[in-house]
Amino acid sequence: MEKVELPGWNLGPVYFFDKIDSTSNYLKKLAAKGVPAGTVVWSREQTSGRGRRGKKWFSPPGGLYFSVLFHPQKGIEPSFSLVVGGAVIKALESRGVSDLKLKWPNDIFRGTKKVGGILCENLSGKLIVGIGLNLTPIKNIDFAENFSPGNLAELQQYRPEEIVGLILGELKEDYFIYQEQGFCSFREKLQKNSYLLNRRVRVDNCSGEVVGYGEKGQLILKLPGGSFKEIWQGTVVLLEEG
Ligand code: BTN
Repeated sequence: MEKVELPGWNLGPVYFFDKIDSTSNYLKKLAAKGVPAGTVVWSREQTSGRGRRGKKWFSPPGGLYFSVLFHPQKGIEPSFSLVVGGAVIKALESRGVSDLKLKWPNDIFRGTKKVGGILCENLSGKLIVGIGLNLTPIKNIDFAENFSPGNLAELQQYRPEEIVGLILGELKEDYFIYQEQGFCSFREKLQKNSYLLNRRVRVDNCSGEVVGYGEKGQLILKLPGGSFKEIWQGTVVLLEEG
């Protein structure tokens, strides 16, 4: 492990590993010991990367895997993972990556492929945000997933610290806005970036068309009978492709 500097990141120390089980697991241990807000753990490879709902996050060398600690003043709601996704997309777009979309609540897609994921975890009022981006082809996937993995190979032309620093810089700004103003100020922009907008989906046993996000980031479905349903959690399956 070594301590490194990231361009644009001055909130806390950054610990870099060649290989680790999971950057979020390690940061959890550090958080329990009382490290400052803004501490970052970043690794070139993870041997037990974790995704949402107990899924695996395959983390071969070459991808970007990092976690950052925040000490929120106010409660953080599940909608924050959308804000994180928006910050990741802004950072990547500034380096010419196009066609990125956010699949509610925490997936980053390009075209029809998932290229990144976000895992927000609360630990006694502290928040650990884990971000994983595929930069190389992913052969193994967790078969519980209902997507094909893609990658952002063109980011290999940059120094990884530049991309991680850019993402964290965007995230830092959006985190402070979110703490002040909540999800509302992000809603419209994020809705436009939504992979699911105007598409027919199924969430658990409910099917309908996605018409947008609610004030707290919940997914709003229009049901076949014309009524609306708010979805607060679950895994969304697209009922159409393309
Ligand atoms: C998902 O798609 O379900 C979320 C994936 C989150 C993966 C990142 S990689 C860095 C951090 N460490 C982990 O073990 N998971 C997150």
